[in-house]
Amino acid sequence: MEKIIVWYLRMSIIYFAAGAVIGFIMILSPNESGYYVTAHAHLNLLGFMSMMIYGVGYHILPKFSGRHIYSPKIMHIQFWFANAGLVGLAAGWPLRAMGNASNFTESLLIVSALLSFVSVLLFAFNLLKTIKAVTL
Ligand code: HEM
Ligand code: HEM
Repeated sequence: MEKIIVWYLRMSIIYFAAGAVIGFIMILSPNESGYYVTAHAHLNLLGFMSMMIYGVGYHILPKFSGRHIYSPKIMHIQFWFANAGLVGLAAGWPLRAMGNASNFTESLLIVSALLSFVSVLLFAFNLLKTIKAVTL
């Protein structure tokens, strides 16, 4: 397995643990849970689930088509975009929810959302260019 794919899987598991810790804290502190719910949801869905799908998808899907990844370079760039974007969102959302709607928080959220969004497009483009029906 390629090193970068191992990192996709590692980060997925790290986000799962982070999402679970935050979920547990939310149960213990129901009054503050609203600050963290969006970060919790995205650490689990965009972090754990999506990152796992990126890693497994990059590893398995080209093999099903008997091909190599269209662009290993995009796969590397996407890794950094997805991680920087998610960490920024997971930090920015609670800050905003706690009433810290500074220019810094808003800019962090916009840049992070853009990075996350572009990373989704990069994955879609790279996989669509990779997969191909196998004719029997
Ligand atoms: C250790 C495991 C988990 C704990 C303790 C936990 C706890 C919580 C809590 C306390 C809430 C807030 C519920 C409320 O609004 O009152 C919540 C919301 C949410 N959780 Fe979890 N959670 C866990 C795992 C997961 C996982 C694995 C996922 C997804 C894969 C997930 C997705 C969500 C989503 C999407 C919401 C927001 C739902 C909404 O919009 O109301 N959670 N979770
Ligand atoms: C491109 C990356 C993404 C961005 C920028 C984004 C942005 C947002 C925003 C702005 C909200 C509303 C938060 C609020 O109530 O203040 C939201 C909610 C939500 N998103 Fe996303 N999202 C992204 C990806 C995803 C993905 C991939 C999933 C599922 C697989 C997802 C599931 C959800 C859910 C379940 C909620 C409601 C949870 C809550 O109540 O906080 N999002 N998202």
